[in-house]
This record gives sequence, C-alpha cells and structure tokens, in this order.
Amino acid sequence: MIDTDTMVQAGASVVERLEIVGGRKLRGVVNVSGAKNAVLKLMAASLLSNSQCIIRNAPKIRDVETMIGVLRSLGMEISWADENTLRITNNGDLKDTASDELVRQMRASAQVMGPLLTKIGRVKLFQPGGCVIGQRPLDLHLKGFQALGAEVIEEHGYILAQARGGLKGTEILLDFPSVGATENIMAAAILAEGVTIIRNAAKEPEIIEEQNFYNRLGARIRGAGTDTIRIEGVSQLNNRDIDYTVIPDRIEAGTFMIAAAAGGDVEIAALIPEHVEALISKLKEIGIEVETKEESVRVRSTGRYRSADVTVLPYPGFPTDLQPQITALLAVADGTSIITENVFGSRFRYVDELIRMGAAIRVESRSAIVKGNTKLSGAPVYAPDLRAGAALVIAGLLAEGKTTIEGVQYLERGYERLEEKLVGLGAEIKRLD
Ligand code: UD1
Repeated sequence: MIDTDTMVQAGASVVERLEIVGGRKLRGVVNVSGAKNAVLKLMAASLLSNSQCIIRNAPKIRDVETMIGVLRSLGMEISWADENTLRITNNGDLKDTASDELVRQMRASAQVMGPLLTKIGRVKLFQPGGCVIGQRPLDLHLKGFQALGAEVIEEHGYILAQARGGLKGTEILLDFPSVGATENIMAAAILAEGVTIIRNAAKEPEIIEEQNFYNRLGARIRGAGTDTIRIEGVSQLNNRDIDYTVIPDRIEAGTFMIAAAAGGDVEIAALIPEHVEALISKLKEIGIEVETKEESVRVRSTGRYRSADVTVLPYPGFPTDLQPQITALLAVADGTSIITENVFGSRFRYVDELIRMGAAIRVESRSAIVKGNTKLSGAPVYAPDLRAGAALVIAGLLAEGKTTIEGVQYLERGYERLEEKLVGLGAEIKRLD
C-alpha cells in the first residue's frame, strides 16, 4: 500500500520532458515577451513606491510568480490585472524579511535588499539560490551597502543589513560591473543623504529601465546605461501611481534568432534591435542573413555555418545568457570555434549533453573549444539550468531525429509559452509527462 507521503513525493517527482523532432524549418513571425530580467527588478523596485504601480508587458513565467510570492511575503499587495499586467500596491506595512523558501528558489530575490534597506532601514534575507552557473556571491552588493553606512552581518545562512544611523551617499567603484550589485546599490542610495556615484557600473538596458522607473517614483538618478551612475538622495518619494511598460526580452529574442539561424526564416518582432547588436554581428559572421527593421529582425538561415569565436562580456558585449545557445549552433559549423565565458565561472555544464547529441566540444577553464564539422542526432538530454535548456532546444531543432529534454521546469522560469511560440513557427515540439 502507498502511504500519503509517498504519494506526495511521487507526485512531486513527476518529470516533464519536451520532445523535439529535429529538422523542421521555422517560418513566420514571433513576438517577444517582456524582459524577465527587467520585470523582476521593477517588481522589487515597487517596494519603494508609496502607492500603486501598474507594470505592463510582464511575462507570465515562473520567476515572476516567485517574485510575486516574495513581495507578498514582504507585505505588498500584488495581483495580475490581466494576462500580462501586474498591479502592485504598497499599503505601507512592509516586513523586513521574505519567505526563505521562495528566496532560495531565485537569486533575483536578492534585489529586494536595496529597496528595503533604504525604505525601512533593515533587511534580513536567506542567502538566495538560483541557477547553478558558477559561484555567485553577493559580496559586491554587500560592500556597496557598507560603503553607504549600513552594518552587514552574514550568519546562519542569512544576510542581515541595517542602516542604524541612516545611509549616506558616497563613491563606490565596483570590482566587476555586476548587474545585481549595480541595481541594489542604486536602490539603496535613493533615500540616502547626499550624492552616491557608482563607477564601473553595469550598463545593461535593464538598468536604464530601473532608473526610469525609480525616477517616475521621484528618485533622482542619471547615467544608467553608462559606467557611471549618479544618485542624488531625496528625503522622500512622491505618492503618484505609476503605469510602466517593460522592455522586450533581449535574451528571449536572441534565443529565437539563434533558433531561426538553426534552420528557417523568421521575423522576431516586438524587440529593440539595438539590444541584440552583439548577436546580430556574430550571426552575420557565421553566415546567417539578418535584416534589421525598426522593431524587428528577420533571420534567415542559409544552411551553412562558418565557425566563429565568441567572447562573452558584460553588455554591450556578447551576453552570457546567449552563450549556451550560440555554442549549440556552432557545434554544426564548418570549423573550430572558441567560446570564452568571462562573466560566470562554470557555465558549460550543458556541454556534456551536447556531446551526447554528437557535438565535439572540449572545455578548458573558461573556454569551450567547439570542433564543428559534426552532425547532431536526437538523444535524451537533461537541462541543468535555464539557458542551457534553451541551448538543448536549439540542438534539438538542428538534430536528426527525436530529442527529449528533461528539466523543463528551468525553461519555465524564463520563457513565456516557449513551446506554443515554437509550434507557431512550425517546430515539432511537445510536452511529455
Ligand atoms: C544578472 C542576470 C543574469 C545574467 C547576469 C549577467 C537577472 C535576474 N539575472 O545576474 O541573467 O546572466 O546578470 O548579465 O537579472 N559577482 C560577484 N560578486 C557579487 C555579484 C556578482 O563576484 O556581489 C560576480 C558573479 O559571480 C558573476 C559576475 O559577477 O561571475 C556577474 O554577475 P552579475 O552581473 O551580478 O549577475 P546577476 O545580477 O546575478
């Protein structure tokens, strides 16, 4: 007889997989959803609002649902107003700590620290988790908080930051242009006394989004998008409701561009082409035809792929979040490519899965040497993280025969209706329980 516990465990361990039949040409138009890495931060930023924030073009993905839970556990009211619109209300009763269980599921939970620290002077957070793509410490975030005058203690798996005597503006030079640290420090400085300058700041488009959002709330920030951000502390923010539309997801757009390059002729619409420039120039180098329009790009595969070296760098360099996907494509190129990862330490865990599909790749330290000149063949594979999952989908499209991908839960963290969008383009892909 099966007892209830066993049944629950069995239920929890039901494994969903994606099955892809390779070789189908993708054709048509696909619309890009709102940016995961922007919406999560705007949601955290709404902790600083004194009234209601409407966030439009929010993708319905698992990370957004997790952030909804994190914010609710902090005392915010948040709900879906319609399919892609979030309504967030701060009724003034914020807690200083969020649900441990949710925080451990997603590293972006750490982005509530800066807003809480500046707004209520204290935050206690379980060390956040997230995709395993290398060591991801929060030292730069915490050093920034300390420079602003906060006391930071790390013990028993928690981070406790307190601003006993208030926060004071200062100059902070980041050792690395970390996206999360730039965002958290920018937020913490908003209600600090005096001016804060962040040097060697991250320049990602998502940071500009946050600057715009915070300034609508009454903050005084400028310079986002450059390596120097200046935050003039204000004593309080305004009480206005805001209505904000999230930018398109450049990583989702890039994933579809690479999928189209893997075989097809696809218009990727509702995106900002400037945000995917590094990828456009790399695809052209590989021999893909890319036509840029005002708010879309058309990507046409010629069926032949030249090898190319890829160096991953912070924005505007080639994004780390597209590194696994381009590696999958280069596996079938006509020569050797070297992919060098300069942002995350160990983001090549998916390589063994590509090798299982026939790719010839050797990883040496921060580089993957892709021999090319191989044909991929469908196989059962496992997605170890979100973008690795996307790379395996692309490999599955390129491969001969059936590929089954385990680890669908990772893809759901960051891609809205991925199968539906791919099926709409003519891919043969379905979910298996
Ligand atoms: C964000 C993105 C992620 C993207 C990454 C780089 C979100 C939710 N996630 O992650 O998709 O891949 O930017 O573009 O927006 N580091 C430290 N100490 C710190 C902080 C970071 O050493 O305190 C290191 C990290 O270990 C990593 C590198 O800096 O090697 C880059 O990390 P960071 O830019 O902070 O990425 P995230 O904000 O975590």
